Amino acid sequence: MNVIEKSIVRDMSLAPEGHLKIEWVQAHMPVLNRIREQFEKEQPFKGLKVAISLHLEAKTAYLAKVVKAGGAEVAITGSNPLSTQDDVCAALVEDGITVFAKYNPDPKEYKDLMVKTLETKPDLIIDDGGDLVTILHSERQDLLEGVRGGAEETTTGILRLKAMEKDGSLKFPMVAVNDAFCKYLFDNRYGTGQSVWDGINRTTNLVVAGKTVVVIGYGWCGKGVAMRAKGLGANVIVTEIDAIKAVEAYMDGFAVMPMIEAAKLGDFFVTVTGNKDVIRGEHYEVMKDGAILSNAGHFDVEFNKPELEAQSSGKRTVRRNIEEYQLKDGRKIYVLAEGRLVNLAAGDGHPAEIMDMTFALQAMSLKYVNDQYEAIGSKVVNVPYELDEQVARFKLESLGTGIDSLTEEQKSYLDSWQEH
Ligand code: ADE
Repeated sequence: MNVIEKSIVRDMSLAPEGHLKIEWVQAHMPVLNRIREQFEKEQPFKGLKVAISLHLEAKTAYLAKVVKAGGAEVAITGSNPLSTQDDVCAALVEDGITVFAKYNPDPKEYKDLMVKTLETKPDLIIDDGGDLVTILHSERQDLLEGVRGGAEETTTGILRLKAMEKDGSLKFPMVAVNDAFCKYLFDNRYGTGQSVWDGINRTTNLVVAGKTVVVIGYGWCGKGVAMRAKGLGANVIVTEIDAIKAVEAYMDGFAVMPMIEAAKLGDFFVTVTGNKDVIRGEHYEVMKDGAILSNAGHFDVEFNKPELEAQSSGKRTVRRNIEEYQLKDGRKIYVLAEGRLVNLAAGDGHPAEIMDMTFALQAMSLKYVNDQYEAIGSKVVNVPYELDEQVARFKLESLGTGIDSLTEEQKSYLDSWQEH
């Protein structure tokens, strides 16, 4: 079977639009372009199969093409039912990549598409949120054999992998791409900061200035969301469970308070915790009429939707990606993108220049794990510092920005404990 026959996508006639989207992002991903050139020459994945589960939009498509340029046979699926773009999928199939993905499949089909991706029997894996790895280690252990290792994109996925490593069930090495400096400092903070507000703004078409925004969770993503909310003119409240992060938010100039108090004040709520039920029944009870809820964490569990439904007398779609819940006391609460990642389910994800660094790390980490999988063993490992730094250097070069280097005297001063 050829790639077109094997693939499962919504509509191949959408391919021209998908090609244009990929072309646009490629022009804004100079670091990944350099890696593609290296891969074309060196063919690090020659003869290997790579399975990818990532948010299947244009930047991801370009990463898949770069891995293919390195000699791999690539099969790809989504990592969230609402973040897959059908036109991009069709274009990728035309580019020779096997695609198992559709926008908004039902939960069974979504899972089947992931399993089909694994049934291609990959040597290497790129995962976002840990679903491919989890399926391989639970219901499809028959497909484990032959997997050399992989790379994981996100905080949530790394938490799952570390739990597997701890109880001894992880069967191959995984590189924690999320924990590289060139990932979380830029993607989690500036990427999420911009793309979350892009998603909320294009979906609601409402003003943010003067409103109260409650950011739940002050990790790197929460910091970005709060910073950009402030830039849009909002009054920002941060809620936290970690005392140090709460002090950080306070010193960054934000109001900090428990969720039950913030719930009464917010016009917009953004959950960015990686945890479940951070907004729940007791909070809905005190929210203002018209409050707007959105999630930027990996899974759609951060606000408890069943409890919201139970407190509602009805719900309706009032605009694309906006559900209105009519509460029994007459108030209305709005949920964006069904509580799925608002930046991807109601937007195009992070800007291309940001994903340039993230996906350069992904590509380099995949090569690293393929070169070193036997030496690493079944562990979760960090991206080697040299690779992280190389991405930063390539980025600076692409920006035309130079930096200084230490003189020999400065180096010996730093190395010495006697000189002062
Ligand atoms: N585009 C592709 N993957 C993404 C991610 N994990 N976050 C934001 N945008 C993306």
